[in-house]
Amino acid sequence: ATTLGAQAAASGRYFGTAVAAGRLGDSTYATILDREFNMITPENEMKWDTTEPSRGSFNFSPADQIVNHAQAHGQRMRGHTLVWHNQLPSWVGSITDANTLRSVMDNHITTEMTHFKGKIYAWDVVNEAFADGSTQHRGSVFQNVLGNGFIEEAFRTARAADPSAKLCYNDYNIENWSDAKTQGVYAMVRDFKSRGVPIDCVGFQSHFGSGGPPASFPTTLSNFTALGVDVQLTELDIAQAPTTAYSNTVKACVNVSRCAGITVWGIRDSDSWRSGDNPLLFDGGGNKKPAYDAVLSALGGG
Ligand code: G3I
Repeated sequence: ATTLGAQAAASGRYFGTAVAAGRLGDSTYATILDREFNMITPENEMKWDTTEPSRGSFNFSPADQIVNHAQAHGQRMRGHTLVWHNQLPSWVGSITDANTLRSVMDNHITTEMTHFKGKIYAWDVVNEAFADGSTQHRGSVFQNVLGNGFIEEAFRTARAADPSAKLCYNDYNIENWSDAKTQGVYAMVRDFKSRGVPIDCVGFQSHFGSGGPPASFPTTLSNFTALGVDVQLTELDIAQAPTTAYSNTVKACVNVSRCAGITVWGIRDSDSWRSGDNPLLFDGGGNKKPAYDAVLSALGGG
């Protein structure tokens, strides 16, 4: 095949990108999006600060714009993200009572998932809950007020809200098998699977430096799938987009049967959150970079 999405589909996978609602009107952007990608993650539009800026008052309009675009163009959606310590409105961060926070969190999950029910392939239920360099959770209002059980609570609530959506835990710096953070997330998934806490997938954000993934990335992916979950590369970008680094990353997924797909975190370098790093597959003018060809060929095409 000659596009990323079609070539990924040839092995039963998807190839996605983060999308900003505000860019859908840019015809260069939309043309590449609809030609190359068959999965979409809203870059910011499903986050708590946008969807529930004040308690009980929900705004799904920006995300609806993206979902409508996806439905009109045969693209599936990843939902990102329900419970995260960033882009969290201050009214949530100032809750100190556990019963209040539990009901606020559960209501947020249930209301957002119900709004999009049937339209989301996989949700990042909890994002970035582990501390860097540690096997433990990071501090956050959820951790500090609800304790370790908040992640389990979120996943159980999510399963009840939309039983047909895949439920993912998503994080960065969990690609290197020997990192403490990787081991912490692995232990959580193993515990969830052993106790029947619903979890279907782990998202490896894959924000890499120019060297690309750590050598142990394939080991990490296969060790997680051995626990009985899918793995996905959810926010891939690589400083300076070296062809070898991109190729190694894509091959790490392709070589693991339960690696369901890859999402890059933006279309053109000018769309990236990493300004100056030029970490994506298209340049600011929308031209394919050498990394594009490396990815297409690592997917088995070109
Ligand atoms: O929308 C406002 C705009 O109204 C305002 O004028 C402007 C002034 O700063 O800010 C705009 O909001 C920005 C928003 O992106 C939309 O462009 C925020 O400041 C900015 O902080 C926010 O950055 C996002 C970042 O998450 C925030 O944490 C990036 O776009 C987004 O790519 C990035 O994505 C995260 C993933 O969700 C989780 N993993 C890491 C990844 C990279 O940081």
